Amino acid sequence: MTEDDLSTPSRPPARRIAIYPGSFDPIHNGHIDIARRAATLFDELIVAVYDRPSKSLQFSPEERIALVRSSVAETVDGCKIVVEGFSGLLVHYARRRGARAIVRGLRAVTDFENESQMTLMNRYLESEVETVFLMTSLRNAYLSSSLIKEVARGGGDIAGLVSPAVAEALNERFGPERP
Ligand code: PNS
Repeated sequence: MTEDDLSTPSRPPARRIAIYPGSFDPIHNGHIDIARRAATLFDELIVAVYDRPSKSLQFSPEERIALVRSSVAETVDGCKIVVEGFSGLLVHYARRRGARAIVRGLRAVTDFENESQMTLMNRYLESEVETVFLMTSLRNAYLSSSLIKEVARGGGDIAGLVSPAVAEALNERFGPERP
C-alpha cells in the first residue's frame, strides 16, 4: 500500500433509501406511525402515493399527496422524508429512485396473504429490492382507510385516527360530525 492509497479518502457509504408505497386514501395514524418508525432505519424515506390503485378512491392523487405531505414530518432522526406520487410498477419506480427497500406495514394475519403475494411478485420482477415489514403499533391495529372513510361518511368522530388536515378534508367531503 502506498502513501497515496492511505491519503485517498474512502468513498462515503451509499445512502440507504427506502420507499413506503400505498394508496393513502387517505393517510391515517397507522401509516404515519409506520413512516416515522421506518425513517429511523434508513437515510431517506420516500412515501410514495400510487396514482391508480384498483379500488374506488375518495381523493385524487394530488389530494392524497397533499394530505400525506401535511401529515408526515420532513425529517425524523436525521432521515429525510420525501413525499411523491408514482405510476406504473413499484419496482420500476424503486429502481429509478435508487431504493433498495420497500416498507410495508402489517396489521392482522389477514394482511399477510396479500402482502406475501405482492412481495414475491416484486422479488420476481426485481430481486435487488427487499421488502421490509413493520408490525403495526397495537393502538393502530384496527385502522384502515376504508373503515375511516365509512365512519366519516356516517358522521362518526375520526379526529383521533387521522391528522388534523385529513380530519378537515374528510369533514369537508362528508359533512361535520353528526349525532
Ligand atoms: O395502500 P395499498 O392499497 O395497500 O398499496 C398498494 C400498492 C400501491 C403498494 C400496490 O398496489 C402497488 O405497489 N401498486 C403499484 C403497481 C404495481 O407495482 N403492482 C404490482 C404489485 S406486486
